[in-house]
Amino acid sequence: MKITFLGGGNMANALIGGLRKQGFSVAAMQVVEPVAETRERLTEKFGLRCCPTIDAAALNCEVLMLAVKPQQLKNALLPLTDQFDKHLENQLVISIAAGVRLADISRWLGGYRQLVRCMPNTPALIGAGLTGLYAVPEVGFEGRMTAEKILRAVGNVLWTDDEAKMDAITAVSGSGPAYVFYFIEALQQAALEQGFDERTARILAIETFVGASRLAEQSPESATALRERVTSKGGTTEAALAMFNAGRVNQVIRAGVQAAAERGRVIGEEMGKD
Ligand SMILES: NC(=O)c1ccc[n+]([C@@H]2O[C@H](COP(=O)([O-])OP(=O)(O)OC[C@H]3O[C@@H](n4cnc5c(N)ncnc54)[C@H](OP(=O)(O)O)[C@@H]3O)[C@@H](O)[C@H]2O)c1
Repeated sequence: MKITFLGGGNMANALIGGLRKQGFSVAAMQVVEPVAETRERLTEKFGLRCCPTIDAAALNCEVLMLAVKPQQLKNALLPLTDQFDKHLENQLVISIAAGVRLADISRWLGGYRQLVRCMPNTPALIGAGLTGLYAVPEVGFEGRMTAEKILRAVGNVLWTDDEAKMDAITAVSGSGPAYVFYFIEALQQAALEQGFDERTARILAIETFVGASRLAEQSPESATALRERVTSKGGTTEAALAMFNAGRVNQVIRAGVQAAAERGRVIGEEMGKD
């Protein structure tokens, strides 16, 4: 399977690195990337072919991964519209552009419908990502499996059969790592205020988060049950949680995710205006 990446930034790097680790041949991957420095870095790091604009060799692929920023996508695709009639009849086009709807991508590509939209998250950079995936009905089983195989190279995958849910996936797992970092930051600051140095505060906060996350992942019990197990009546944890509840932290987090989902919908609409 030959894959061409349109855009050679962070996400393309993570995916190429993940695919290489899975034994995917470097000869089967290419990158279209306008920035010379980025192209040089990619060639040095992976030894793959990079070109500044999409050419005939880059079009000779089974999968075209759209890995440019959402606001760059329309312009990046417009020069391809003619090419699709000539070269890209059965290729699978996979977009990782946050918020951009497949109806708009299809329109920008002159009605092309072999389209998959996905939303990875940044732990993909270390192979621990979670990617939400959606395919239009025209994409068959084989196309779905191809998309899944590529995204599995950087972590777990989760399919949805409703594209509107992609905004919700973006709000929960796409933006989610930032919520986790926010919590780690707060816990680290709290440790500093308790008199620990920077290094110790960092270890205390991160190791606690990693350990508790692993426990939640491996335990058959719910997060609620696990939390209750740590919370003895009249104890230290109860004192902290009473403070969180007084500050309505749970409700604020849920409202934040709601705001992110809403923002995703608005960005999607704005992006597809023309
Ligand atoms: N990073 C994340 O956490 C994350 C998570 C989920 C989804 N995503 C999505 O992944 C996509 C890529 O994100 P990223 O973080 O990898 O962005 P990025 O690092 O900015 O990479 C995009 C690359 O594409 C290049 N580019 C711009 N126009 C192009 C064109 N016409 N043809 C070919 N390449 C072009 C950019 O060059 P310039 O530097 O000149 O602009 C840049 O090097 C975005 O749509 C984002 O929404 C990212």
